[in-house]
Amino acid sequence: MSDGSVRDRVAIMTGAGRGLGRAMTLGLLKAGARVCMVEVDQDVLDDAAKEAQKIGGERAVIAIRADVAKRDDARMIVDRTRKELGGLHILMNNAAIGPQAAGPGYMTNPGKLWNLDPETWRRTVEANTTGPFTMMQAVAPHLVQQKWGRILTVTTSLDTMTRGGIGAYGPAKAGAEAMMAVISEELEGSGVTANVLVPGGPANTRMIPNEGVYAKRSELIQPDVMVPPLLWLCSTAADKVNARRFRAAAWDTKLAPEKAAEIAGAPIAWLGLGRQSIHPGR
Ligand SMILES: NC(=O)c1ccc[n+]([C@@H]2O[C@H](COP(=O)([O-])OP(=O)(O)OC[C@H]3O[C@@H](n4cnc5c(N)ncnc54)[C@H](O)[C@@H]3O)[C@@H](O)[C@H]2O)c1
Repeated sequence: MSDGSVRDRVAIMTGAGRGLGRAMTLGLLKAGARVCMVEVDQDVLDDAAKEAQKIGGERAVIAIRADVAKRDDARMIVDRTRKELGGLHILMNNAAIGPQAAGPGYMTNPGKLWNLDPETWRRTVEANTTGPFTMMQAVAPHLVQQKWGRILTVTTSLDTMTRGGIGAYGPAKAGAEAMMAVISEELEGSGVTANVLVPGGPANTRMIPNEGVYAKRSELIQPDVMVPPLLWLCSTAADKVNARRFRAAAWDTKLAPEKAAEIAGAPIAWLGLGRQSIHPGR
């Protein structure tokens, strides 16, 4: 693995059944990694796993129906990955409930947060904030012990985090990014890194409704753009890259990856703002 590739690395991909998770799974397999595909929706998981096994071979893929926010599920995912795929190096927290949970037609007729059904708030925070936290807790001790690993989370664009009309989606994603900032500090120097990867705008998945300006699907960001930055972040070339956020759509594959990373990357939120608090001793 000294060539910087992901060959023979083992990754957990959550939300692997469709959209960005499916594209990233196939990208990792094509590059020679082994992948545990995690998905709450059994039908799409079965379909995606068939495609993945065709590409990576049966021994490179396991598919687990599970809910990432449940501690027992997270432990089971890690145990099965290590046993059945022979190790664990990478966690990609990709699963999430989209803004459409705020209600049908939320784009054209957005609701107010004060009217949001509290159950929708709870479910969204569970999947989008507690899920990445729960998976991180299940994975981190093993990665720290082996002194090498990657913890990655797909959050969202920073402006989406504070946008009205999309219910709990933005706040829940902001929580996930803050969690990543915390663990990137706590992991510093351990050999394990924590970074955020986002598409960088609306991507062509079911999360973006097929209406209005989003109806021209070919003009949206295509899921495959996630793959080049993901592969680089998972390679040894990125061993020293920690506490960063990368916009996949801004990643120029014609450039050397280090240059592409410089252009598409920024400090993980909200470290770029500097220290805000007045604190004794500082
Ligand atoms: N599509 C976009 O424009 C866009 C933009 C910014 C960020 N994102 C983020 O990218 C990631 C992938 O989104 P997508 O667009 O591919 O959406 P998607 O809805 O196509 O895929 C998300 C997958 O996660 C699964 N999932 C949801 N909750 C789960 C849980 N608790 N446990 C296991 N699996 C669960 C869903 O069943 C689904 O298959 C998400 O984190 C999303 O917030 C998407």
